[in-house]
Amino acid sequence: MSAPVKVTVNGRTVEVPAGTLVTDAARAAEIHVPIFCSHAKLPPLGACRICVVEVGTPRLGPDRKPVLGPDGQPEIVWMPKVQTGCTTPVSDGMHVRTRTEVATAARKGVMEFLLVNHPLDCPVCDEGGECQLQDLAFAFGHDYSRMDEAKRTFDSEDLGPIVKKEANRCIVCMRCVRYCDEVMGENALTAHQRGVFTEISSFDRQPLACEQCGNCVEVCPVGALTALPYRFKARPWDLRQHITICEWCSNGCSVRLGVRGMEILRARGTEYRGVNQEYLCVRGRFGHEFVNAADRPRPYCQVARIGKRWSNVFGPSMCISARADGLMVVRTNPCRSGSGSSSLSVAPLRSTSFGLNCWVYRNDCDTRRLSRM
Ligand code: SF4
Ligand code: SF4
Ligand code: SF4
Ligand code: FES
Repeated sequence: MSAPVKVTVNGRTVEVPAGTLVTDAARAAEIHVPIFCSHAKLPPLGACRICVVEVGTPRLGPDRKPVLGPDGQPEIVWMPKVQTGCTTPVSDGMHVRTRTEVATAARKGVMEFLLVNHPLDCPVCDEGGECQLQDLAFAFGHDYSRMDEAKRTFDSEDLGPIVKKEANRCIVCMRCVRYCDEVMGENALTAHQRGVFTEISSFDRQPLACEQCGNCVEVCPVGALTALPYRFKARPWDLRQHITICEWCSNGCSVRLGVRGMEILRARGTEYRGVNQEYLCVRGRFGHEFVNAADRPRPYCQVARIGKRWSNVFGPSMCISARADGLMVVRTNPCRSGSGSSSLSVAPLRSTSFGLNCWVYRNDCDTRRLSRM
């Protein structure tokens, strides 16, 4: 493992492993540097330039040791131009400035370029409320545009039944294409044309049908790729977030459900959690609609709640009981499993977080379902 190096970001010194990128070192120092194209699972690219910062290193004397200034601290030589933090590795004694006049002016310039053809139609954009571009336009954008010419426009396009492409909003960060190629190995997306006419789409504009479809939607930092099943259904602030386990197969991927009222409206991966480490296959991401289907058999089980007390009730293949310490125990039904009353799960009662709903575990077919009481 590489020896740690000391980096000072906006006056705050942190120790990070050698080779860490400036944006990650800034994160370690709890200083936010905006990013679009950079992604933890992708190699550095430097496509969007929004992460520009000022970088300086200690001046070295003939003996290769830092030259000390009158205050006894190493003299810092600042690079003549701003650098992209997501592609610059740190070195020992490096200094980084993220909020100076120079860095802020550079970031404002980048934002102006990014918004040259961007429609900023946030009120009708599914990304509104969780869009980094929207936040940065508010922080660094101008309240007017110097662009007198008509904006370049593309037609919107459905890339199959689940991905909606609005290329006018694309900032050509290439995250979706690279994630699809380098992480998912699907090679389904590409950049058509070049320069200002660059348009992300599928090869030959064929419908997307990947096993892992939808990860491109999740990594797109703006509303250029959105999920058709979730389109116009909710705003992020409408949704309660529940981290749980995907119900479709025994991989048991970690999934973040967006729930409004009694309805599951979307499923997303959870960063750095679970066996899947944020990836979801298409079933895990879009297969939750059966839960809300009107013709789905229900109730699956009955759990009676009288005041604050839960009573023991037997369902077709399980029983759920409340323990004195406030935990819920889900057991297989001994009649069905033939293996006695084995405990499947113990969870706090409050984790039955769908109000009057509960998670029901069916041991006999290894699926987990959400059942309405
Ligand atoms: S991508 Fe972001 S900034 Fe652009 S319209 Fe959608 S919410 Fe607004
Ligand atoms: S569609 Fe989204 S992720 Fe892909 S290049 Fe455009 S902005 Fe980036
Ligand atoms: S997301 Fe896909 S692979 Fe993961 S548990 Fe669900 S169905 Fe299985
Ligand atoms: S995030 Fe650094 S160049 Fe895009």
